[in-house]
Amino acid sequence: MKKQNFVGVTEAPIQKGTRVLMRVDYNVPLAVDGTISDDKRMQDSLPTVRYCLERGAKVILCSHFGRPEGKPDPKYSLRPVFNHLQKLLPGITVQFATQTVGSAVVAQVNALPNGGVLLLENTRFTPAETDNDAEFARQLAELGDVFVNDAFGAAHRAHASTVGVATYLPSYAGMLMTREIVNLSQITENPQRPFTVIIGGKKASDKMPLARKLADVADHVLVGGKIAQEWQDDGVQHRAQIHIAPDQGLDISADTVATWRPIIENSRTIFWNGPLGQFDVDPANAKGTHAIAQIVADSGAVSVVGGGDTAAAVKDFQFTHVSTGGGAALEFVEGTTLPGIACLQKKGE
Ligand code: 3PG
Repeated sequence: MKKQNFVGVTEAPIQKGTRVLMRVDYNVPLAVDGTISDDKRMQDSLPTVRYCLERGAKVILCSHFGRPEGKPDPKYSLRPVFNHLQKLLPGITVQFATQTVGSAVVAQVNALPNGGVLLLENTRFTPAETDNDAEFARQLAELGDVFVNDAFGAAHRAHASTVGVATYLPSYAGMLMTREIVNLSQITENPQRPFTVIIGGKKASDKMPLARKLADVADHVLVGGKIAQEWQDDGVQHRAQIHIAPDQGLDISADTVATWRPIIENSRTIFWNGPLGQFDVDPANAKGTHAIAQIVADSGAVSVVGGGDTAAAVKDFQFTHVSTGGGAALEFVEGTTLPGIACLQKKGE
């Protein structure tokens, strides 16, 4: 991927009273009791939110949540996220708008105190969002003086709130967005070698193209989990040596961990996507993933983890960077130009 060129939020004209329309990716998992079961995406967005609040701005947050098929659906309301956000921002005025755009929302923005936060209802409660409808984008833009995109997890979607809105407002990358780009670029731009890719997970059809692309730039590709069983040789000579775990697909064995250990320990860059065992079937199947996570964490290599399932599985281990993106991280690493990044203001413009 070509070097990204964008302007970060710290260069945005944000001062007392500035209305900052900020796209975040608060598409977070819910527990059965309706609370947020993993708030990493929310936590990681807070530095940008706080940066704007400290300057006296009004922060208007927008996000999608699930896939509600273009109509309001209480199951996909951002209200549980709002409840959690209030806890994450103690002492800050945090309000909720039951609509996404329109005159009532404009009035709420006007009444919001400087240094306050307003979370808008799910942007996908209208098909105009995923259609990247110009009028909907304009209505969103009406709520801000500047646009800050911190939704790396949704940057592969060309929607009204990620791309369309940037037509109407000066647009900047948030701190989370910038961190993702800088860290994931360590994988795509001249990675230090040896460069090892670890691929796991279930969906062989989704992962195979990524694995093959990376096999042309990496030195080693380690394949575990269910995808290892479904791996099909494409008959092409790749740059990397490809190591397929000879296990049954439920978890990688201690023997596989021992075989892979020296390869990982010797690596200077590691990219990991996909768990190596099926611990949704049985938590005991997490052993191999945890053993490999420890070796990666101890390796001293630049280590980058992409994909929601993997991030959750290795949350107790230290890596250089754990991406908040699922599909977005994979597309970035595959070398695709993400529309949510491409539309941001360029340096020197
Ligand atoms: C994700 O969870 O990967 C992002 O929030 C994007 O969600 P989507 O796949 O529904 O567009």
